[in-house]
Amino acid sequence: MQGIFISMEGPDGSGKSTQIELLKKYLEDKGYDEIIITREPGGTVISEAIRGIILNKDYTEMGYMTEALLYASARAQLVSQVIKPALEEGKAVISDRFVDSSAVYQGMARALGVENVYKINEFAIQGIMPNLTIHLDLPAKVGIGRKKEQAELDRMELEALDFHEKVAEGYRSLAKLSPERIRTIDATMSIEDIHNQIVAYVEQILNK
Ligand code: ADP
Ligand code: TYD
Repeated sequence: MQGIFISMEGPDGSGKSTQIELLKKYLEDKGYDEIIITREPGGTVISEAIRGIILNKDYTEMGYMTEALLYASARAQLVSQVIKPALEEGKAVISDRFVDSSAVYQGMARALGVENVYKINEFAIQGIMPNLTIHLDLPAKVGIGRKKEQAELDRMELEALDFHEKVAEGYRSLAKLSPERIRTIDATMSIEDIHNQIVAYVEQILNK
């Protein structure tokens, strides 16, 4: 049996972790017991160590290409060690971010070019793409405001508002390019309303 892969995308603070928890619970209540939750950058010991380097706010001199390659290397380890084996065993994988984050943050907001970023990542993802991507659409200012209340901001979150606005806009244009896979939801709605919309999209792919 082929597994199912769902990724959650959106600007910082758009509610991805909140919604992943609710979706996991929903799927468990429906009887799916093999649900793997992971996050990017991270999800393995090595990928979490790379995350520590990428998000360290002292590393202000990090070049954009270095940044893009570090995200891709964290992803390569996660795909080989967690995502690919889980999907081969027929499990459901839900990931807090995947390659679309690199397309938007590095390809668009850092202006490295979406094509270049996918090229680097081709090697890392081994042909694996999500069956469904939920895009939580939120104005940049709102997301960063939520993050500020939650914890100390990391190297990416400390970028200027202009950067985060490019990210929010980048997601909107990426979603338009793949409307079948990437489903956009207004993330200014209540947690419950967003969850209900996510469930509707997940049901669509489960019933396929
Ligand atoms: P992300 O994982 O995308 O960074 P989180 O799920 O951690 O986002 O949410 C960031 C903050 O916003 C948390 O404090 C969370 O409780 C809050 N939050 C999440 N969803 C909503 C929502 N729909 N409306 C208002 N606040 C929300
Ligand atoms: P995450 O922990 O999901 O942050 P948040 O909870 O604030 O949304 O992701 C870490 C940061 O890394 C976030 O600012 C987005 C960024 N990022 C990229 O720039 N490129 C990538 O490929 C990934 C996976 C994340």
